[in-house]
Amino acid sequence: MKHFYSLFCPVLLASVLLVACGSESPVVVKSAPVFSTSELAGGETTVFDASSHAFSIPAPNLSASALEKHLEGDVEFEAVFVTAPAVVNPGLGPIYNNVSCINCHSRDGRGRPPDADEGLVSLLFRLSLPKAEDSIDGKPPIPVPGFGTQLNNRAVVGTDPEGKVKIDYTEQTLTTEDGTRVHLRYPNYTFTETYQPLPSEVEVSPRVAPVVFGLGLLEAIPENVILAYADEADANGDGISGKPNYVWDVVEQRYNLGRFGWKANQPTLLQQVAAAYHDDMGITTSLFQTENSAGQPQLTHHSPKPEVSDEILDVVTFYVQTLAVPARRNLDDPQVKHGEQLFAEAQCASCHVPTLRTGVLTGVPSVSNQTIHPYTDLLLHDMGPGLADNRPDFHANGSEWRTPPLWGIGLVKRVNGHTNFLHDGRARDLMEAILWHGGEAERSRQIVEQMSKAERNALIAFLESL
Ligand code: HEC
Ligand code: HEC
Repeated sequence: MKHFYSLFCPVLLASVLLVACGSESPVVVKSAPVFSTSELAGGETTVFDASSHAFSIPAPNLSASALEKHLEGDVEFEAVFVTAPAVVNPGLGPIYNNVSCINCHSRDGRGRPPDADEGLVSLLFRLSLPKAEDSIDGKPPIPVPGFGTQLNNRAVVGTDPEGKVKIDYTEQTLTTEDGTRVHLRYPNYTFTETYQPLPSEVEVSPRVAPVVFGLGLLEAIPENVILAYADEADANGDGISGKPNYVWDVVEQRYNLGRFGWKANQPTLLQQVAAAYHDDMGITTSLFQTENSAGQPQLTHHSPKPEVSDEILDVVTFYVQTLAVPARRNLDDPQVKHGEQLFAEAQCASCHVPTLRTGVLTGVPSVSNQTIHPYTDLLLHDMGPGLADNRPDFHANGSEWRTPPLWGIGLVKRVNGHTNFLHDGRARDLMEAILWHGGEAERSRQIVEQMSKAERNALIAFLESL
């Protein structure tokens, strides 16, 4: 890709961002005379790069000092942690899922379930005990004694991993109205080699690592904008409700709107990052000071706390706040345009909201006051029994999931070399992902099933342009 220094920011967004831009140094963006709005998926943070690096580029509108901070965060995101004591990056484990952020969020992109002969890499399992009568009480999940709320399938030398998981799939066939047969696979999980028995009533939520670009923009969407899309009682009668999750904010010590994670189970990127260090890598921070193996007989690990400093937490948070969003492609292709229309007709846009406006995210001017095209409402939707994990997470019940953003989804294949979608990666391509939609999206799926082959191809061509 060619980079040009341009006056893009003042020229295009003079009325909105002159003050912010005035203080920034020259920005690195592709110079082009006119951009159509929907090409700029991430507003001014958009990059024109459709290569395998498309998810790993700093937002082009960062100031020089902000870019420096982003690059410091990049180093930490890639840092490989080891067992303490060590000179560099100690503190791993004693139990963990992986040794670095990038190992799961490969190329800042998404993970996938393992192939038959592979161990878990970027898929993890949340665990909890059932609540009385499966009540959705808005409280955090109940940890499983001896395991906590996540299965850590790896451990440092001298410590037992909590267990392993075997995955097999049940195939089922769905026939669309025009007679096309689509094979869908449903995952079954067997927990093996657990270091102590898992209670039989354990609730399990499989989750693959999502992409990590564009997240500062999602954090910058004002709460009232998100809540305006919520329609819990379905007052407009379209069969689609949309419900906010409210989750525990450890910094503010109160319940706040959840935005991140497959069930909108984290309120801020700071907390999401600290939780990743803690839950996925066994690394303590000022937010989560107790080892994730606490309560286990094998808590033998007494390194200085916190194992990762507030400075590192800050730069890594800034890194995921300021990764650029790749621009849309092929907007003028007639098939893509047709697909965009079908996307609206099939009510996809009721949950995958195409356009939102960010407010101000303190300390991150590059993501503030942007018009963006994330294709999410950040709300929870009942997706039906086929996708249910039956594990409540704060206000999310066992069949509710947060609408995932669709921006960049057409580049996943190039960046990550696979097309596994949905929270557990069961879908092997975009059409399979759509055909798993149920619950509030039942009608959308039926509309897609009734489409002609040419229409379904157009819908996919549109998704691939994102
Ligand atoms: C073992 C794999 C794994 C590791 C290691 C890991 N993550 Fe993740 N990450 C995930 C999964 C799975 C999710 C979804 C979690 C959920 O739904 O609760 C996630 C979610 C996220 C999100 C929220 C994305 C969104 O769209 O909501 C961010 C940000 C993130 N991780 C950053 C990090 C950082 C920073 C690190 C390193 C400190 C890290 N992750 C380490 C697997 C991993
Ligand atoms: C009721 C809200 C709703 C509607 C309507 C809806 N979706 Fe979704 N969509 C979701 C949710 C929630 C998920 C995540 C489900 C999961 O992972 O289990 C999802 C997942 C997806 C994914 C996979 C994304 C990923 O990152 O893995 C694609 C692609 C998708 N939807 C496309 C569509 C299309 C196309 C339509 C219209 C035919 C549509 N959706 C209609 C809520 C909706």
